[in-house]
Amino acid sequence: MSEISRILVIGALGQIGSELTPALRQRYGADNVVAADIREAKGTPLAEDGPYEICDVTDRTRIDRLITGYKIDCIANMAALLSAVGEKVPQKCWEVNINGLVNTLEAAREHELKQVFCPSSIAVFGPNTPRDSTPQETVLEPTTMYGVTKVSGELLCHYYHLRFGVDARGLRYPGIISSETLPGGGTTDYAVEIFYKAIEDGHYDCFVREDTMLPMMYMPDCIKATMDLLAAPREKLMHRSNYNVAAISFTAGELAAEITKHLPEFTIDYKPDERQAYADSWPRTIDDRIAREEWGWTPAYDLAAMTKDMLEVLTKRQAAGALYAG
Ligand SMILES: NC(=O)c1ccc[n+]([C@@H]2O[C@H](COP(=O)([O-])OP(=O)(O)OC[C@H]3O[C@@H](n4cnc5c(N)ncnc54)[C@H](O)[C@@H]3O)[C@@H](O)[C@H]2O)c1
Repeated sequence: MSEISRILVIGALGQIGSELTPALRQRYGADNVVAADIREAKGTPLAEDGPYEICDVTDRTRIDRLITGYKIDCIANMAALLSAVGEKVPQKCWEVNINGLVNTLEAAREHELKQVFCPSSIAVFGPNTPRDSTPQETVLEPTTMYGVTKVSGELLCHYYHLRFGVDARGLRYPGIISSETLPGGGTTDYAVEIFYKAIEDGHYDCFVREDTMLPMMYMPDCIKATMDLLAAPREKLMHRSNYNVAAISFTAGELAAEITKHLPEFTIDYKPDERQAYADSWPRTIDDRIAREEWGWTPAYDLAAMTKDMLEVLTKRQAAGALYAG
């Protein structure tokens, strides 16, 4: 089948969608990538650099209209409620993450789209999963509603491929660290907040313990992984909807120490809250050999390179009086 050419990104205003959409527009052409979200985006680059539409992922009729109107052949479904938010409203988390995904898969089946992309997460793992070098195939018994939706989502994508031939692809993203859009309420948000607070206040109250180690990835690697999987030849993909992808694993203490190399006055206190339990149920490190073998995944950023880049970007923005402008 020929390559995808017209993409609908639902959840485009989020932490990942807001950087994935411009990257897709650069590769596939600005007019060929429709950004959509449940929120207004007037005046933002996403709304000005290409088509922008309001779309609730739970509204199937709206998705159908956008597919027909824009001759869409691929949906990237980035709309979701993440772990910490999802645990506050678990029923809503199921509705958006699962009913929304079923809508995109059904739309892909009926309109014979070439591809659907829907991210999974390290939240598919749970306390019974090996936490070090977590394998691709392992125990998936999450203890958060978010994790339950992500396991179910992987299975749904797999089912739609087997049963209906829908080319549904997905990655188990680790915690994503980025400087453009603030994260939307996940457990790994501390690894982003710490940079803003280090620059703004010289101090951060961290909501997980110092020894908490989780798998993380810098946004340029997240975008690269996503674009590479979207462009991978269909016949090479055996796992398709649930690839482990690893980049960097570090403890909260190691991240703070790395920041201190650049900002020696920086201080941190550890005040674990309910998110500690979610973090404790997730892996420390990930085995991503399958992604490397099947479609050539390799990350570029380690802890030192990511920290240096984050601090440079945010320091420049603060000097321009727009630390939170992203
Ligand atoms: N950011 C991470 O660290 C991370 C890690 C693992 C997996 N993921 C996954 O990646 C995907 C994108 O995550 P993100 O970090 O960008 O999330 P985010 O919370 O930053 O953004 C989600 C976007 O979805 C939109 N949205 C919410 N409900 C909607 C609805 N009903 N219809 C349409 N849009 C709706 C929101 O307005 C928001 O812009 C999600 O599937 C998430 O589970 C993210």
